[in-house]
Amino acid sequence: MPLNRALDVRAMTNPDSRVTIHMAASLDGFIARQDGRVDWLETSDEFVGGDTLDPGFVEAFLKTIDCYVMGSRTYETALRFEGQGLGWSYGDKPTFVLTSRDLPRVRDTVEFYSGDLAQFVNGHLRPRFCAIWFVGGAAVSTECLRLGLADEVRYSILPILIGDGIPFFEKLDRDTALHLAEIKAYKSGMVELRYEVRGHRDESRNAT
Ligand SMILES: NC(=O)c1ccc[n+]([C@@H]2O[C@H](COP(=O)([O-])OP(=O)(O)OC[C@H]3O[C@@H](n4cnc5c(N)ncnc54)[C@H](OP(=O)(O)O)[C@@H]3O)[C@@H](O)[C@H]2O)c1
Repeated sequence: MPLNRALDVRAMTNPDSRVTIHMAASLDGFIARQDGRVDWLETSDEFVGGDTLDPGFVEAFLKTIDCYVMGSRTYETALRFEGQGLGWSYGDKPTFVLTSRDLPRVRDTVEFYSGDLAQFVNGHLRPRFCAIWFVGGAAVSTECLRLGLADEVRYSILPILIGDGIPFFEKLDRDTALHLAEIKAYKSGMVELRYEVRGHRDESRNAT
């Protein structure tokens, strides 16, 4: 679907809905090692001037997210984490897993989808949810941006270089202009960047 058409559809379905892509990456831009491991997410830096992540704030913030969307390989990582006793990161929020395979459904909040991503987001998710969070991996995030579905990108950079791995965005076929909306640095050495994706909803409205 051409970008402008995707934007018109989005504005018609639910103007208040917002699609966020969120991932954590190494400074050299990888979200996982080549074999999928994310052991490097545990870093040990300390930035004296940084903020502390208050658990109460995090809990309140997570409540503002209405649903999660992820690719099957990210889901498989989440299942492995849960199997190792590390818990389920998505609470009781609806979690949509994109897959063409028959994967185990470990809880009632998980739903599987296979097919056209733009139709799924604009036709199914936007009319029902306001804060829609894409939480990886690289393949799904790239597709979300490529189809012009994302409103914002939240990029948490960890204080580590890992040299090789799965890049945050797989090959995009065009430039995507962004607006830097927020920066936060934490005591842990993590920097959180929030960008709004430009050239969409508001700008397309202003242009008409
Ligand atoms: N650092 C972070 O913040 C972070 C966040 C998330 C994930 N990760 C890591 O990233 C890695 C996974 O990323 P990835 O890019 O390899 O994979 P991914 O994006 O998680 O999953 C891609 C897979 O999802 C399925 N899929 C995607 N779109 C679909 C559609 N429209 N319809 C049906 N199925 C669809 C396909 O698999 P099938 O159809 O074959 O099932 C595809 O191969 C994992 O190692 C994970 O731990 C890191």
